[in-house]
Amino acid sequence: MGTTRALSNAYHPDLARVWDRVVPPGGDLLVERMLRHFERRRPGLRGGRALDLCCGTGRSAYRLASSGYRVVGLDLSPAMIARARRHCRRFVADGRVRFSVADVRDFDEGTGFDLAVAPWDGLNHLATIADLKSCFAAVRRSLVPGGMFLFDLVGRESLVHDSIVVERHHDWVAMLEERFVPESGTSQTRFSGFVRKRGGLYERYDQTLSWTLFAMADVTNALRAAGFREIHRLDEETLEVELTDPEQAPRVFFTALRPRGRWRIPPTPVPADRPGPGGRARRSGPRAGVRSGAVASAIPAGAGSGALPAQSVVGGGGVRRRVPIHPIPNPATAPRTAATRASS
Ligand SMILES: C[S@@+](CC[C@H](N)C(=O)[O-])C[C@H]1O[C@@H](n2cnc3c(N)ncnc32)[C@H](O)[C@@H]1O
Repeated sequence: MGTTRALSNAYHPDLARVWDRVVPPGGDLLVERMLRHFERRRPGLRGGRALDLCCGTGRSAYRLASSGYRVVGLDLSPAMIARARRHCRRFVADGRVRFSVADVRDFDEGTGFDLAVAPWDGLNHLATIADLKSCFAAVRRSLVPGGMFLFDLVGRESLVHDSIVVERHHDWVAMLEERFVPESGTSQTRFSGFVRKRGGLYERYDQTLSWTLFAMADVTNALRAAGFREIHRLDEETLEVELTDPEQAPRVFFTALRPRGRWRIPPTPVPADRPGPGGRARRSGPRAGVRSGAVASAIPAGAGSGALPAQSVVGGGGVRRRVPIHPIPNPATAPRTAATRASS
């Protein structure tokens, strides 16, 4: 399938313990916005079946189940899944939620899902565009015709930097050392620190995780090649504003539909959003650096994205303009106009 099996970004048990403290289940603004967006555009599928990719400790699964969805959560880390099962035990007990240790690059949970979500940049942990394609194909197979896929990726502005962030709480300390490696196009983020265990003793943890900088144009093409349509790249604050320069945004929110009826593989990919020097499109190889999901997720619900000191460095949000949501045109089938040029 062309995926990179060697690399694993499954969160270690110690990091899972910290993650649980950093992002307790429920009360997550991004998931709220995703749900609102989905129910506004697909009111008929409200309360249906949902896939939660890279589900972590189950906070989005919990929120979805609380709103009446039946959820299957997938994560590569047995430790994260164990915590997700514990947090969602009342929904697991009544069969509303099920969790599986699985690789999102290659899974088969059957069909009939109305939506699939991957919040908080879980898919940045995949190493290559081939990995993303493999994941997108599995998601498409899982969705009903008309079903929606919503996920976010952090981009260049979030990833291409080196920084150290320290977070101190009463029972854990986290140090995040982010280092962007141009050769691999990844942000190598080392999480280390201490977490208090039962009995009051502190245990040291240490894990380096990788976030890949993808060119958003490559991601768009991969979605299209997997058979998704009505692809949007939206701002993270409202999920209503089409980003005019997604390559520069700190976080891009993708929505895509599995079309009803038959589809065929498009002959030509959409062009890169912004050609690099010499007119060559930016490749996904150099993954844009990132504010890590952990830091972003550490922001308490209700706080702005400036809640952490380093977060304010990110700032911006790419060049945005408020436009009615419309599909990204495929130049293979639609003539380019000044308007479409400006928005691609
Ligand atoms: C940013 S964290 C959790 C995000 C979670 N959606 C949330 O809102 O808290 C990313 C998760 O992706 C998982 N992960 C990394 N690579 C994966 C893969 N190939 N397949 C499935 N899960 C993966 C990690 O174990 C981790 O739990």
